[in-house]
Amino acid sequence: MSDRIIKSKSRIAGEITVPGDKSISHRALILAAMADGESRINGLSTARDVQSTRQCLLDLGVRMKVDADALRVTGKGKYGFKAPKKTLDAGNSGTTIRLLSGVLAAQKFISTITGDASLRNRPMRRIIEPLENMGATIESASYKAPLTIQGGPLRSIDYASTIASAQVKSCILLAGLYANGITRITEPTPSRDHTERMLEAFGVQAQYSLGGAGVKGPANLQATEIVVPGDISSAAFFLVAASLLPDSEISLLNIGINPTRLGIYDALLAMKANIHMSPAQVINMEPRADILARSSQLFSATLAGSMIPRIIDEIPVLAVAATQATGTTVIRDAAELRIKESDRIAAVAENLQKMGANVRETKDGLVITGPTPLKGAEIDCHDDHRIAMSFAIAGLIARGETVIKGAECVEISFPGFFQLLDQICHD
Ligand code: S3P
Repeated sequence: MSDRIIKSKSRIAGEITVPGDKSISHRALILAAMADGESRINGLSTARDVQSTRQCLLDLGVRMKVDADALRVTGKGKYGFKAPKKTLDAGNSGTTIRLLSGVLAAQKFISTITGDASLRNRPMRRIIEPLENMGATIESASYKAPLTIQGGPLRSIDYASTIASAQVKSCILLAGLYANGITRITEPTPSRDHTERMLEAFGVQAQYSLGGAGVKGPANLQATEIVVPGDISSAAFFLVAASLLPDSEISLLNIGINPTRLGIYDALLAMKANIHMSPAQVINMEPRADILARSSQLFSATLAGSMIPRIIDEIPVLAVAATQATGTTVIRDAAELRIKESDRIAAVAENLQKMGANVRETKDGLVITGPTPLKGAEIDCHDDHRIAMSFAIAGLIARGETVIKGAECVEISFPGFFQLLDQICHD
């Protein structure tokens, strides 16, 4: 396991790009594999999670070729996948296992899909139940991976999900492409809608609104060209770093600004951050823009309700920002954080406490009072990429050295994170 030492810095500055959006990249690969014809994907994320999706699709017989800076994917059509010769490995990626399960549920073969220790501990009942309602047979021990999926004909369903999860919604929508009739899913608060948007790019009319989404099956996908924007969840670390360090200014170019992902921008604005956005450009139904962040005097905010799915992956770094904000920041309605790659509520509270922050864990969130000076500490990232990167940002403003234990886990979503951080940091 590699450790990274982070020292305090006086400022950050620069104009940078970040790897392609991870959520959009998974979907681009899966939909391209299901389509008829050859698709081109530009700007695919280099993240290890996306490699997991790519490898599963290769194991299902999909052919891909790197062509200049694009990936060419030869679509198999919805039923052209081959029975895998081995267990499919989703690695650390919840998106890979949950989305692919929706596709595997409709195939004419049996397959088994699993992942690493973290993924094998995450809840899968949320996809098993609706897929079984659609007619699939899925074996598991206590609704956890490995999942053995006996695919077959599926029927459409109207599913009222009790959780706001794009992974669940997308799993059901992908399965719905195989069923006769309209498959609909409603959710308590809107989750990211990349699947719905990308289905349109592949020629399938998806219906979607803030309450849910639906597809009319059976529907076939037509190959297309996808241009993946930069990942706002990766940009988030630098937006917070620029806000926290004095005399800082950072421009993040070509970042995806889908409204269902823009919570980090809105949360930082609510905290009075000095943050701006260029006019948007829309490609494949996905808006993108440059985002500029400068040093800021932050104030506390309440982050709750429908905001939560829009910041779900950014809460750890927002918690770091909250330690420097004047007042008490309350984060609630975020119990889902406990079942991400790690228990992120516990991991954030434990590590912020080590750094001297005034933070309290609640059952579904965190209460953080600031501003409090941070001190360097040894950070246990619980093998969770977003914890590692959030605490690298905390280390930039802490007195003394911060040691990120097992820092290589950043590769899960952001290969090159530390190199980029080095480039823009000034002593
Ligand atoms: C994702 C959805 C979110 C998010 C995850 C990626 C996706 O999970 O936390 O990092 O690509 O659909 P849930 O939808 O399960 O909350």
